[in-house]
Amino acid sequence: MIADISVDDSEILAEIHRCCFDDYWSAKSFHELLSQDVFFGFIYKGKDPRGFILGKIVCCEIEIITFCILPEFQNRGIGKTLLTEIDNYAARHFVKNIFLEVSEDNVVARKVYKDFGYKEISRRAGYYQSQDCFKTAIVLQKACPYFAEMLANSCGYFFYK
Ligand SMILES: CC(C)(COP(=O)(O)OP(=O)(O)OC[C@H]1O[C@@H](n2cnc3c(N)ncnc32)[C@H](O)[C@@H]1OP(=O)(O)O)[C@@H](O)C(=O)NCCC(=O)NCCS
Repeated sequence: MIADISVDDSEILAEIHRCCFDDYWSAKSFHELLSQDVFFGFIYKGKDPRGFILGKIVCCEIEIITFCILPEFQNRGIGKTLLTEIDNYAARHFVKNIFLEVSEDNVVARKVYKDFGYKEISRRAGYYQSQDCFKTAIVLQKACPYFAEMLANSCGYFFYK
């Protein structure tokens, strides 16, 4: 089952995040983010919560802020299910672009984003720092087809008028 994320999920989001990242975020951080209107997301629940995706929407753009599935539930299609939810949300909100940053060495995430039509637009050297290691971030972007369709339809409307 997929549900909208709310501030009440802050503890569980922090717990999942801790299992997936070295530089994990606290429940307080999630609470602060989710108290702001621009942040939204989806949580995947089986018997228990298994993963989530958190985004930020500003004007016509979404940024995927963080995205993770508990290790024992990875590779079962949950990540792709949540990305589909983001696409649906983007369509409902007339979003033009979705973008995100991913570590250059994150093979699985890069594969999943590629399958969903995300394309590299730039690189940020040394963006991720863990212990003494600096890693390059790849900035990916996806143009939402629904936005182009809507634009084409409205242009048609204005030309017709
Ligand atoms: C990235 C992440 C969210 C993906 O979620 P997921 O539920 O495992 O993803 P899915 O099961 O939907 O899809 C995984 C895909 O990667 C493929 N894959 C798995 N391991 C792979 C590997 N080593 N190399 C290449 N592809 C791989 C799978 O075959 C699958 O592709 P398919 O649908 O064509 O078979 C999850 O791995 C995760 O939480 N990682 C840790 C946190 C993280 O890196 N988040 C992203 C930060 S940008």
